[in-house]
Amino acid sequence: MTVGSRIVALGHYQPSRIVTNNDLANIVDTNDGWIRDRVGIAERRIADQESVADMATFAAEKALANSGLTPADIDMVVVATCSSIDRCPNVATRVAAKLGIPAPAAFDLNTACSGFSYALATADHAVGAGASRNALVIGAEKLSDVTDWTDRTTAVLFGDGAGAAVVTAVPDGEQPGIGPVLWGSAPDKGDVLRIEGWQPYIKQEGQIVFRWATTALAPFAIEACERAGVKPSDLAAFIPHQANTRIIDGIVKRLGLGPDVVIAKDLVESGNTSAASVPLALSKLIERREVPSGAPVLLFGFGGGLTYAGQVVRCP
Ligand code: UT7
Repeated sequence: MTVGSRIVALGHYQPSRIVTNNDLANIVDTNDGWIRDRVGIAERRIADQESVADMATFAAEKALANSGLTPADIDMVVVATCSSIDRCPNVATRVAAKLGIPAPAAFDLNTACSGFSYALATADHAVGAGASRNALVIGAEKLSDVTDWTDRTTAVLFGDGAGAAVVTAVPDGEQPGIGPVLWGSAPDKGDVLRIEGWQPYIKQEGQIVFRWATTALAPFAIEACERAGVKPSDLAAFIPHQANTRIIDGIVKRLGLGPDVVIAKDLVESGNTSAASVPLALSKLIERREVPSGAPVLLFGFGGGLTYAGQVVRCP
């Protein structure tokens, strides 16, 4: 029998060091007004000693504590990341080792900024196939490691952090809390956003990504709602990838959301944290009790690849 899954708890972690726009204006030719107007970011958190695995672990530890499950209950760990420098062991096994999760299926997944929605769908599918009962799904990035701090066109955009969700099988007869995923990519545009080479730095053709995000993505977000049987006007919250407030506003305008819907704009205080941006924003929203338990929330990630993925989830 196919079973569904749901998110039962979330957690997040951000480094303590705050870097403001004015701080960046001391190292590259930029200013607070340009960054706020063109991107929407006021500040971001930058890691010092913490690795991607450390941040993923801290977020997962909180999610696990909030779920009431123990490390021994977890049978799958999925980490979405595009900035982990180490190739092996993967981040997921490092998280499992640090948390004392004894023998999970453990793998990393890289679809850049859409990574959390891909990872969440993969965990949901694994539960549906009977391959997992309790999964940890994490988005974690240390983009400061792959940022060229002399390049003003990218240095002002990114931040570090992690968000995590505990996903469990729903008991018999109960509604699933994770809707069908809508996922895909535009590989012909893959080279417009790159972190490549031996000393990798983020490079992007920002305007091409911007145009694609504001023209191509809204219909996919609407289709993700349709697949879940939810009207955009019934959503309690919309949590898109946090890259640019102008992109978020452009997508929102085309979705037909209700007047009271909460629109996540966590990038104002966190910058663009790629695969961590959606779970970070969702976790904060739930911590602040901005959305009631059971309410439908549309998650929608997009970015490098160019990839996109979204699904409607029910708030834990
Ligand atoms: O998360 C992964 C997916 N990525 C995205 O979604 C990013 C999508 N793209 C964007 O969000 C925007 O394209 C950016 C925020 C990256 C750039 O904004 P823009 O409005 O497209 O700026 P632009 O690249 O057209 O640059 C406009 C001007 C240029 O100067 P000139 O040639 O007009 O004199 C740039 O050199 O702004 C200049 N500029 C800056 N000025 C001050 C570029 N970066 C900066 C800066 N501070 N940091």
